[in-house]
Amino acid sequence: MKNIGVLISGGGTNLQALIDAQGNVLKSGRIVCVCSNNADAYGLERAKKAGIPTKVIRKKADCGGDGDEFSRRICEYMKEMQVDIIVLAGFMAIFGGELLKEYADRIINIHPSLIPSFCGEGMYGLHPHEAALKYGVKVTGATVHLVNDVVDGGKILMQKAVYIEDGDTPEILQKRVMEQAEWKILPQAVEMICKGE
Ligand code: GRF
Repeated sequence: MKNIGVLISGGGTNLQALIDAQGNVLKSGRIVCVCSNNADAYGLERAKKAGIPTKVIRKKADCGGDGDEFSRRICEYMKEMQVDIIVLAGFMAIFGGELLKEYADRIINIHPSLIPSFCGEGMYGLHPHEAALKYGVKVTGATVHLVNDVVDGGKILMQKAVYIEDGDTPEILQKRVMEQAEWKILPQAVEMICKGE
């Protein structure tokens, strides 16, 4: 059984999908802690309701805006909680440094597009969906990938396609991509990594 640490910044619906998958899709790992860089993240409530320990580490308020210190503090907490695998589930802060070194090939991210489309710096939140609609693609989706030092550039683990429909707005598309792709492939990919496949 692998110990999973989840990093979040917001609503935490992907965290919820992981919590709900425990014991069924997610059998080879369990969530041992949730860390947020935003004290108001609703995902922290979801973790608490599920009895999972939480911690807030903010780049500006707790680390003086120092990216290396931020990375070091998160790394310290992950080690303290004996985390084997880190999942970024809507984690909006880019980091490098110690965490990336210590957990190389053991950090997973979910991105709401089919990489290499609509990804990279600045492509977070609604932006990938806005870009997909603006470009006029007919299919988008979600990608689960390993994290390295290139934003959205690590090895792809799993992808799922989602059709764009007439009348889609970025918000409608975001919801469909979450429901049809993100909440499904994230637990599957995390299980795959925990199992060592
Ligand atoms: C998701 O679209 C995810 O792909 C992206 O950020 C969003 C987070 O949503 N990285 P939530 O906090 O999991 O609800």
